[in-house]
Amino acid sequence: MLKREGRTLSTYGLESGPLGYHPLREYIARKLARDAGITCSPDEILVTSGSLQGLDLVNQVLLSPGDTVIVEQMTYGGAITRLKRLGVNIVGVEVDHDGLSGAALKTALEDLKRRGIRPKYIYTIPTVQNPTATVMSTTRRAEILGLSAIYGVPVFEDECYADLVWEGTRPQAMRGMSQDERVIHIGSFSKSIAPALRIGYLVAGWPLMSRILAIKSDGGSGAIEQMILAEYCPDHFDTHVRALRKTLRRKLDVMIEALRVQFGPAAEFADPAGGIFLWVKLPDGVDTTRLTQMALQSGVAINPGAEWMTDAGAGRKRIRLCFAHPSEQVIREGVASLAGICHREFAVPARHAKEHR
Ligand SMILES: Cc1ncc(COP(=O)(O)O)c(C=O)c1O
Repeated sequence: MLKREGRTLSTYGLESGPLGYHPLREYIARKLARDAGITCSPDEILVTSGSLQGLDLVNQVLLSPGDTVIVEQMTYGGAITRLKRLGVNIVGVEVDHDGLSGAALKTALEDLKRRGIRPKYIYTIPTVQNPTATVMSTTRRAEILGLSAIYGVPVFEDECYADLVWEGTRPQAMRGMSQDERVIHIGSFSKSIAPALRIGYLVAGWPLMSRILAIKSDGGSGAIEQMILAEYCPDHFDTHVRALRKTLRRKLDVMIEALRVQFGPAAEFADPAGGIFLWVKLPDGVDTTRLTQMALQSGVAINPGAEWMTDAGAGRKRIRLCFAHPSEQVIREGVASLAGICHREFAVPARHAKEHR
């Protein structure tokens, strides 16, 4: 690839313009048409440094301090941190087994309208919601889009986990279902190929894209990473991700089994539809923020629920456990260690599994 096209590295943007390496954008456009039902041209796709840069760019263009945004009550910690730093009002809306609740969203929008507030966007993670790992149905997506139209509030859909649905297919993205420009879509190769590559993408129409391009001041996303993906993906992405999903599902099964053995009924969770994490509820009395600190001292890293919910207090009974990176053995040992710590600190589980033996 370098022999063939290395010369283009001597220009900003690889002779592809400011949106990113053209062959990669062509691949993404084909993939989005096939997998997500989004019809767009490569020129409506901006390659970003991970989807995090997509989040930052959209926030920078659309938000000012004092603005209001709607997010899912349980959502990506990195999104909450960013919004807090920007000084915007965050309205958390209930999620259920189908993702963002349409009824609760309607109530929130109506309430804000009564107070003369029009939120700047509705941020949602429809496919493998983070942290609940649900996949939003097409019916619910249509309901959310309907509300977005009625109240004139754009939808900001973050589909970075969409390749990791166990079934291998995903529902149509809201960007594909919508007839107008009201949906901003971001995606990523972090969860499917490698987070360190820092390659994500943003899909938007030109009215918004032109404003985003104007503030994307990094001179273009990493060139070699884009070239590598454009070379690798057309022939290998599907095979790789099929195998990855199998590995992840197996690791999830190991984690679920370990939790059942170690925590018994004290750990409540729903079986994820895909992804890399499990969202676990522990009984009253467990303070998961403290548990996280204690666990870390023993070398076990977990996410405290308080950082993954708009109402931090409500998150104190929850933990988010990632199973993608550790081996099956490490998952077993980690869960056993966590149960031991939780038992010692909070008497949950009432009897630690080791005592059963
Ligand atoms: C929902 C969601 N969006 C965006 C990101 C950022 O990912 P990246 O910038 O690596 O694409 C993450 C990472 O965990 C995430 O969970």
